[in-house]
Amino acid sequence: MIQPTGVALIGSGSASPDSIITNHHLAEMVDTDDEWIKTRTGIAQRHVAGPELGLRHLAAQAGERAIAAANLTSEDIDLIILATSSPDDLFGSAAQVQAELGASRAAAFDITAACSGFIVGLITASQFIRTGVYKNILLVGADLLSRWTDWEDRRTCILFGDGAGAVVLQASETDNLLGFDLHSDGSMNGCLTLGYEPEGQTLYGETQVSKGQYNPINMNGREVYRFAVKRVPQVIGQALAKAGLTVDDIDWLLLHQANQRIIDAAADRLKIPREKTLSNLAQYGNTSAASIPLALDEAVRAGKVKPGDTIAASGFGAGLTWGSAIFRWGHR
Ligand code: ACO
Repeated sequence: MIQPTGVALIGSGSASPDSIITNHHLAEMVDTDDEWIKTRTGIAQRHVAGPELGLRHLAAQAGERAIAAANLTSEDIDLIILATSSPDDLFGSAAQVQAELGASRAAAFDITAACSGFIVGLITASQFIRTGVYKNILLVGADLLSRWTDWEDRRTCILFGDGAGAVVLQASETDNLLGFDLHSDGSMNGCLTLGYEPEGQTLYGETQVSKGQYNPINMNGREVYRFAVKRVPQVIGQALAKAGLTVDDIDWLLLHQANQRIIDAAADRLKIPREKTLSNLAQYGNTSAASIPLALDEAVRAGKVKPGDTIAASGFGAGLTWGSAIFRWGHR
């Protein structure tokens, strides 16, 4: 039998650590307050992982729930893509997730694209389906940016939280990935970095190797804000055009959860009513690659997003990178 090459998103799952830091807790740590954080970002609290919880554990938990929601078992999965910028292992954590899930048939690899990771992963996964190579793909977006947050920097520590979200993509007769668009601008890399700082270690004579360390997240908030408010509506417009759709066809706007003001500004620019925007920023903060699938999973489980609904999703962040995918939820 020839395998169909349409892409369907058929199940979602998510997971977050139990431990919560509220804005009031942060106000005891740095010079800030609940009112400032809420009005500037919409965030009220964030979940954080302690040292006992690995990225692979959270990613596997979300993945397991997505596989169950798709009525599959881990043995059905052909490929696992893990979008993360905070792996347990710099060599990649996707194979660790594969082992946690017991998905022994699956190939597994990581994608690093910060807060655009889920969208980049979705487009990458869909290529394997469209070429007829794989049937069932688990895509997980997971990040533990609390590991890389400078908890003494009030400009950034208020923003980030930990989490994981996942979807299962399946080859289908109907193609529910309707359009997409991806971009990068490395000339703006310095606006948002989790950079390696080299330090020389002399081995012999004048031969040195670099034995440095990764520095905490460094961000020019205003630049990133301006970039997001301009690029997100643009890239959604481009993906919609490729899909042959207009904003009136969108049931839900699902943006990377970075800042409520960015979500509202993008919705306004696109002339999409606020009721059609999905947001769980208040409870989770910015969970990077996890934020889109986490918000999607909550909306699906709450019965808000229904099979057949058309979703305009957009991720944006470090790189800088940004992208959009327009898709219909479920098998229909
Ligand atoms: N509490 C109180 N005051 C603060 C805080 C704080 N936590 N942080 C900054 N301030 C102060 C600043 O010092 C500044 O004071 P000044 O005017 O006396 O210098 C003032 O508040 C305003 O600072 P801005 O940086 O201009 O504040 P802004 O309104 O831009 O909000 C924010 C900052 C929330 C970071 C915003 O710029 C933003 O959301 N940017 C986008 C971030 C983003 O989307 N990142 C995506 C990352 S995704 C990824 O790839 C990891």
